[in-house]
Amino acid sequence: MSQSNGQAKLGGRVGIVGTGHRAREDLLLTAAWLLWIPVALYTNAIAARPSSQLVALCDLNEERMKYHNELLKKLGQPEAKMYPATDFEKMLKDEKLDVLVVTTVDATHDQYIVPALYAGIRVLTEKPMTTDVEKCKRILKAVDETKGSVQVLFNYRYNPAHWKVEELVASGKIGNVKSVHFEWLLDTVHGADYFRRWHRYKDRSGGLMVHKSSHHFDLVNFWINAKPKEVFGMGSLAFYGAENGKKSGWAKDYYRARDSKEAETDPFAIHLGDQPDLKALYHDAEHVDNYHRDMNVFADDITIEDDMSVLVKYSNGATMTYHLTAYSPWEGYRVMINGDKGRLELEVVESAFRLPKNKGGSAEGAVHGEKALPNEGRQKIILHPLWETPQEVPYEIGKGGHGGGDDRMLDQIFGPRPGMVEKDSAVARLGANQIDGALAMAVGLAANESFKTGKLVKIDELLGVVL
Ligand SMILES: NC(=O)c1ccc[n+]([C@@H]2O[C@H](COP(=O)([O-])OP(=O)(O)OC[C@H]3O[C@@H](n4cnc5c(N)ncnc54)[C@H](O)[C@@H]3O)[C@@H](O)[C@H]2O)c1
Repeated sequence: MSQSNGQAKLGGRVGIVGTGHRAREDLLLTAAWLLWIPVALYTNAIAARPSSQLVALCDLNEERMKYHNELLKKLGQPEAKMYPATDFEKMLKDEKLDVLVVTTVDATHDQYIVPALYAGIRVLTEKPMTTDVEKCKRILKAVDETKGSVQVLFNYRYNPAHWKVEELVASGKIGNVKSVHFEWLLDTVHGADYFRRWHRYKDRSGGLMVHKSSHHFDLVNFWINAKPKEVFGMGSLAFYGAENGKKSGWAKDYYRARDSKEAETDPFAIHLGDQPDLKALYHDAEHVDNYHRDMNVFADDITIEDDMSVLVKYSNGATMTYHLTAYSPWEGYRVMINGDKGRLELEVVESAFRLPKNKGGSAEGAVHGEKALPNEGRQKIILHPLWETPQEVPYEIGKGGHGGGDDRMLDQIFGPRPGMVEKDSAVARLGANQIDGALAMAVGLAANESFKTGKLVKIDELLGVVL
């Protein structure tokens, strides 16, 4: 189904629009190996790969762009030219970019994808590709008219465990897929992070169905090589939010953690001043745009859900039952795929538990899934062929952000790091294009629609087009 963009020309002159958390550099302390490993996201990743040069940065907030330039300096790289968001078109004109990386707030991706396509630039956009049908149509139309290239950065596809699942299903080991059962748990550090800032507003993120689950919906489309057709869902704000917090007793009375006495003892709070990168990117930059990244998760203005159940029917007749919980004590997921020759099970415990700060716990780093989490758990793939003994399937265990998926994806999109061999064509096919981006997002949008109406939603009718 994927018309991979993985074969597009690598590297060249790169610009980044949206110089926040996802674009930053950091270090990861792995519990299992007791080693600091550089976690390279876009700025650092480009600097580490000689076939790409980061020449331009664009954002609403100059302080965050400066942070990235400081990082380039530390890495011995020339600074990139900084453009305010209002000068984006000028950046496209002046910088002769080969590649644009879009890492802004989800609902604004289309504002940058579309003009870059018309300027003939290869676009790499963070997921979700966008957040509503009209924006999605604009992107699809622009790709069509320009014959341009959009790659949606679904880094989860590059996690070796996920890649292995796809290989096993495609090789027919479980026969024809009939159904999928998929549960994803976000814990009260990572999960709570979606409720502290812009993600908590549906018009900015599309809610977790679009913002987060589009990763999972994309994986299922990829694993079973089918298109989603019908969606029914029920979702609610069951845990976060003012009312729930009062009922459960978790709520503390403050607006944001900065300068709040109450927040000091709130295990759900994030303290931006405690971490140098979060301090520089947000704490010290908020005077420019009032971006408060540390709001109370038990507030009354949250418009997204934290507990969601979804049923999906696919083009090959298979169905999926899916659940996302954003307030779990541990973080990870379980997937079971049933076929007419057997069943495949994937279990990943990313973080086995969380402790509050006063009991030695920390939100250090791993608040947003970009690195391996503390208290690492286990992961395994079990194949249960019919009428045979089950087998644990060996596969490469990824180290680092998103199960090692980030680095593999970065090698594919910006060229390999020195000393690394060019990845084989199997990795190139993991690239997701605009159709993959639209289909993954559409399941989330359809689920949101179903939450509101209580009705089953047909994807083709929702999008107004058959993809
Ligand atoms: N694939 C993943 O695993 C993963 C992980 C984290 C984030 N993301 C994605 O990366 C993107 C950025 O997320 P983040 O966590 O870095 O958020 P962030 O809030 O840290 O950064 C967003 C940046 O975009 C800027 N911005 C906001 N609106 C803008 C506009 N209209 N024009 C220009 N700049 C604008 C903000 O000033 C900020 O610097 C999102 O789309 C998110 O979904 C993906």
